[in-house]
Formats: sequence, structure tokens, C-alpha cells
Amino acid sequence: MAKRIAILTGGGDCPGLNAVIRGVVIAAVVQRGWEVLGIRDGFDGLVGEPRTLKLEVANVKGILSRGGTILGTSNRGNPFSFPVKKGDGVEMVDVSGQVVENCRRLGIEALIAVGGDGTLKIGKRLCELGVPVIGVPKTIDNDLRGTDVTFGYSTAVEIVTEALDRLLTTAESHHRVLVVEVMGRNAGWIALESGIAGGADVILIPEIPYQIDKVCQSLRLRRRIGRKFSLVVVSEGAHAVEGEVVVRATAEQNYGIARLGGIGEVVSRQLAEALHTESRVVVLGHVQRGGTPCPFDRILSSRFGVHAVKLIEKGEFGKMVALGGRSVIAVDIDEAVESLNLVDPHGDLIEAAEELGISLGR
Ligand code: F6P
Repeated sequence: MAKRIAILTGGGDCPGLNAVIRGVVIAAVVQRGWEVLGIRDGFDGLVGEPRTLKLEVANVKGILSRGGTILGTSNRGNPFSFPVKKGDGVEMVDVSGQVVENCRRLGIEALIAVGGDGTLKIGKRLCELGVPVIGVPKTIDNDLRGTDVTFGYSTAVEIVTEALDRLLTTAESHHRVLVVEVMGRNAGWIALESGIAGGADVILIPEIPYQIDKVCQSLRLRRRIGRKFSLVVVSEGAHAVEGEVVVRATAEQNYGIARLGGIGEVVSRQLAEALHTESRVVVLGHVQRGGTPCPFDRILSSRFGVHAVKLIEKGEFGKMVALGGRSVIAVDIDEAVESLNLVDPHGDLIEAAEELGISLGR
């Protein structure tokens, strides 16, 4: 009997998910004659009556360059704390038993969980309950340990950099300050790398709490040398030394995960007042996650998909595929999720940014 494996995509979507699915289907179905079941909407598709889609080569034709995920995803579906309607409200219930039972009923011999921190933590716990899980690291935030980089991140950096190139010319024409708020949650990678690539004057990241006086000081200095416009990149998780992270919805209001956002507006207002200048804020939002993956992410995702199948072949469960140097390797899922991969405030990237004259607000 052909081996039957399954794949799901969990958490926020990200460019490259479809390329992973395609890689898995080609390596498993075409090269090995296995069966692949796609699980709909992340772990949600294994709660209650399973929602699956048999993946054949025809399903993955033309999806290498397509953004999003053909399987759908959910960033609320944690089976260990699953929102279930009760009366007028919602109660969080542990439905992991249903997931384990559905995997058994469907005859799934291995489950590939493609996701970020949340999805991989769930995958690890399911592995402990007897589901053979392989993890594949995805997130535009690049905040997972165990891999040099996650897929989706490079595309996000490219999108933000292109936006900065465009915003710079309008900032210059109007002699304005342009504040650009970018994603990343508690990690400042997107802001830092796209800020450097896009020629930002100021980059504010969560790992380095900023002092607004220092930011103003650097922008005044710019003006004194005749530069009347400035580009300020702010990571959504950035906060002042004495300040709090700004949220659009608290964890209680949003199924256990706070929705960050709004810091760009705060910084823009503060700069306009302190510098007596015109400032505009642009929140790039989900545009950073949508659309076609860049070539680097297409290649990385494809390699990750193929490697996940190889790990299943070797029976190496509880592992996550990862990029180590120039090679695709396997690490324990534990290693990837034990803490977040954050920007080192004393690392060479930060050093380079400051040497380039970029203010980090410190
Ligand atoms: O983790 C990816 C990410 O895009 C974060 O950068 C951002 O804070 C969050 O997801 C947004 O989530 P949602 O799609 O639920 O608004």
C-alpha cells in the first residue's frame, strides 16, 4: 500500500507556502508514488469532521509563483485551546484528541506542518501525543530559531524596500517626514533590513526601545545639512524606552494573540510636533504578506518541501527542516520554538546601520 502523508499550512499566510506544497507533492507523489492529503485551514481541518483534499500533480500545477496557500490557513485554530461557541460567548476547549483521532482514521503516516512559532509548537505537542510531525518554518517575521532564515521573509523585505523607494521620492518632493510602519511582531528584522536597503534615516525596532529625543536630534542634524525630508521605518512592535507596545486588539480581544499596530501614527505625531514639520504615516500591513514570492523564497520553499519528504522517508519525526549556511538541514522542533529569533542589539547588522548614519533612537 502506498504511504499516505498529509500537509497543512497554519498561522498567517506568507509567500512561498504554495511552493512548499508543490515541492512535497512532486517529491512524494511523482518521485515516490505516495499519497498526499491536503488539510484545509490549518489544524482547523482536523477538528470535528476532517476537511481534506487529495493532492495530485494537477492540483499543484502553476502554483509555484502564487501567493497565499491553496489549502487555506487559520491563526486561531490551536487544537489545545480551540474557540467553541457556548451560549452567547466563546469557550476555549482542548480538542487535540479529535486531531489525533482524525489522523489515525485518515491513515496519516506523517503530517507536515508548515507554519511559524504557534503552528510548530502545536506540531511538537501533537508529536508527543503520537502524531508523526515534520515542521517547515514559514513566517515573514523571520523570528524562528534553528534556521538561518524562514521563507517569506525575503519577499517581505523586497516589498517593503520597493515601497520605501517610492515613498522616498514623494517625501523629498514635499519636504516631509514619512513614517512607514511595517510588520514583524516582536522581531525587528523586516524593519531593519528593508530600512537599510531602502535608505531609511531612522529605523525603530522592538529590540532597541527608542528615545524620541534622539530621533529628533538626528533629523534636526539632517536638516542642518540641507536634507529637508526624512524616511522613518517603524516596526509594529517598536516602543519607547518608557512606553508600551501599541496594539489594535489585546490578546483577550483576539483569541490569545495581540494584534499589534498604531505605533507609526504615534511616532509621526511626535515628530511633526517636535520638528514643526509635516509628517505622513503609511502602514504597509498585509501587502507585505501577499502576492508572488521572490526567487529566493521559491527556491527555499521548494527545497524545504522536498527535504520534509526525505525526513519522512528516514522516519525522522519531531524535526523541522531548516537552512544552515547554504544547506538544508533538520533540527529538533524544540530548538526552533524555545525562544524567538530576535535582532541582536549589538550585532554587526545594527553596527552597520549606525555606521551608515541611521538613527535607531538610542
Ligand atoms: O506573523 C506574521 C504577521 O504578519 C505579523 O507580522 C503580524 O503582526 C501578524 O501576522 C498579523 O496577523 P493578522 O493576519 O492576524 O492580522
